[in-house]
Amino acid sequence: MIKHKKSIFLLGGIILLFVVFVGGKEKRDSPKEINTAPQAIETRNASTLRDLGVKKGKKMGAAMNDFMISGDPMYAQTAAREYSSITVENHMKWEYIHPSLDSYDYTHPDRVAGFAKTHGMVMRGHPLVHTGQLPAWLTTGVYTGEQLDAIMKDHIVNVMGHFKTNYPGIVTSWDVVNEAVDEAGLIKQDVIWGNIGTSKDAYVAKAFQYAREAYPEAKLFYNDNGIETLGPKSDAVYNLIKNWKAEGVSIDGIGFQSHILKVENDSLAPDFTRDLSTLEANMKRYIDLGLEVHITEFDVLIKTKDGIGETELSEQAAIYKKFMSACMKFAKCTSFTTWGITDKYNWLSHLDGNVGAPLPFDLNFAKKPAYHALSEALLGR
Ligand code: XIL
Repeated sequence: MIKHKKSIFLLGGIILLFVVFVGGKEKRDSPKEINTAPQAIETRNASTLRDLGVKKGKKMGAAMNDFMISGDPMYAQTAAREYSSITVENHMKWEYIHPSLDSYDYTHPDRVAGFAKTHGMVMRGHPLVHTGQLPAWLTTGVYTGEQLDAIMKDHIVNVMGHFKTNYPGIVTSWDVVNEAVDEAGLIKQDVIWGNIGTSKDAYVAKAFQYAREAYPEAKLFYNDNGIETLGPKSDAVYNLIKNWKAEGVSIDGIGFQSHILKVENDSLAPDFTRDLSTLEANMKRYIDLGLEVHITEFDVLIKTKDGIGETELSEQAAIYKKFMSACMKFAKCTSFTTWGITDKYNWLSHLDGNVGAPLPFDLNFAKKPAYHALSEALLGR
């Protein structure tokens, strides 16, 4: 347990480092214009993930970044051909979209939304109220609970209002609250939002209320990691949502992030042997609560240091298939998003150069066994 806690702490540290270095870099790069006119997209056919998904009622999505959409034609082509849903990987987080108390910056998300509109895709709004990647004006400022409440409300109203007005029908689902619960299943205590209201989780109900008022037709999600199978954290989140709902919180869905990895000897490592036998039972209990399920950030880490072998690729594919097949069992599992498109750009190899390759397309945009596993599952095989 102690080791586990240490590992989580280390992962947090690694992520923080990454946020500091890579996040900072992203901010400095000057964005290029994106041509959102329909491009010479490789002909779609009935076997793309996007089209197989349409037939089965599943949005197939990926986290994307407008720098790659504009700068890498293969990326843009693959994005439009294979996916029907986009999550902006970073630029809708407070650090970017709300750079000072009185300003919002929609430059990057607008470009992605323009691309989504051109190509008939929807977006998942990610995330409205989160705990990392917050701007310094917010984390180092001194605010009363009432002021924080007003700041949070203004953010939700402004961000949702922007997309509701400018891109009607595009950002259909929102991660209203992201990662509010710690590994032990407790509401995180050291989160700035915990200062709102009389309990550490009072902000959650308020965030959902403001989001519902700001964009009534949107589907509102709670999104978290490590809750994909039965277990202490998933039990805790399940009970919290059950209580929030009983108290009248209007919540439509649960986002299972589904980053499949573990921390071993103080570094990131594959988790091919994770017990996934309770995946469906876990999904079912959330659905029975009246929720829709989205797989929101799926990826499966491989150790790349010694080269990637067939065995790793097929073990990775098997996990892809298990998750997609579980989603296929339930009409209420309506969206499956991977945290990126191609191994060429992935957050895991940025965190740790010895690992990565978590996505369905390889460095050259060739389809990996993981891609075929998604297709097979979508075909019910
Ligand atoms: C990650 C991004 O992929 C990185 O580029 C960034 O530096 C850190 O955040 N859970 C989430 C996502 O909800 O927003 C995170 O995205 C990955 C973990």
